[in-house]
Amino acid sequence: MSRPLVVDIHTHVYPPAYMAMLRARKEVPYVHDPANSATPRLIILSSDDDPSIPIDERGRPVDSSYYDINVKLSFMKQHGIDCSVISLANPWLDFLAPDEAQEWAKRINDDLESTCLQVNSDTSSSQKKLFAFGTLPLSAPNPEVITNEIKRLKTLSQIRGVIMGTSGLGNGLDDPLLDPVWAALEETQQMMFLHPHYGLPDEAFGGTETTNRYGHVLPLALGFPLETTIAVTRMLLSGVFDRFPKLNILLAHSGGTLPFLAGRIESCIMHERHFIANGGSTPGPVRSVWDVLQTNVYLDAVVYGTAGLKAAVAAAGGSTDRLMFGTDHPFFPPLNEEDEKWASVTTNYKAIQDSFGDDKGSVAAVLGGNAARVLNLN
Ligand code: URA
Ligand code: ZN
Repeated sequence: MSRPLVVDIHTHVYPPAYMAMLRARKEVPYVHDPANSATPRLIILSSDDDPSIPIDERGRPVDSSYYDINVKLSFMKQHGIDCSVISLANPWLDFLAPDEAQEWAKRINDDLESTCLQVNSDTSSSQKKLFAFGTLPLSAPNPEVITNEIKRLKTLSQIRGVIMGTSGLGNGLDDPLLDPVWAALEETQQMMFLHPHYGLPDEAFGGTETTNRYGHVLPLALGFPLETTIAVTRMLLSGVFDRFPKLNILLAHSGGTLPFLAGRIESCIMHERHFIANGGSTPGPVRSVWDVLQTNVYLDAVVYGTAGLKAAVAAAGGSTDRLMFGTDHPFFPPLNEEDEKWASVTTNYKAIQDSFGDDKGSVAAVLGGNAARVLNLN
């Protein structure tokens, strides 16, 4: 039997123009070039930029895997990945001045489109190698700039949706001012890939001294997933999925902790006296968490273990049709440069095999079949 198609739907790039922009900056997010010509540093999380850490050691090393598409293609080959849906990495264009956002979104999105077209034109196989999620000018002075870019993205042949952080227009994803954005995404049937960046305040982890001691473990392992969980729960509570029942969203890191906490969220909603349904004055959500999980939400399989994958499937009503393989490349490279295979990838492959190994159809669906069907990648 031929091996299943493998599609990576969670894989990032910082196009060269974006890298140059980060290099020109002196505050987060920025790229720092050490004087001793050591590997440049990527300082993008606010916790990275602690003045008590020497600047040459802040953040993390950033090499060509972040911006050279040929390095991504070699990584794909090495790990048996047939097709990748690339996306700009955090913090996207969130930090741009309002008058810069539109132009940068167009530049990045046109760059993603042409990179995909160029790579795909070189392949003799019927399966294209690259697609992309575009990025939105969320700091633009008015929502029309954003909705126009969403409509323009629909006309780009290699784009399959957008990647977004949790801040929205600056006030989170339950902001009613985002309704035109949800409407445009729903109308054009483009996926919204929701990805964390801001994490939780350092105080949640015991302050900067603690976060410094443990590096990125607390912000990435816990801050990121909780941020995603809070953002999507705020969307749900504000009725986004009631108003836009055909909106499709893909949640990073298997939904953060949403699959595990869905029952508790649903129970708290049922018992909340503020909501009109319970005699209060706040509208509250109409559709249940479970309904949204089984209708609007897709989850990536970037959770590195069977417990997380099984929770993701249980949240989708027992179906493996909403779960999609991803790597988070180029983040989490092996610390030992001699390791050929990335443990961050092999751990996810193994978790998929261990969770669904007896059911070859489910393994194939999670590895690539679901992404190809949902994102129309053929
Ligand atoms: N760290 C990040 O900043 N972003 C990712 O996507 C993964 C790890
Ligand atoms: Zn990521």
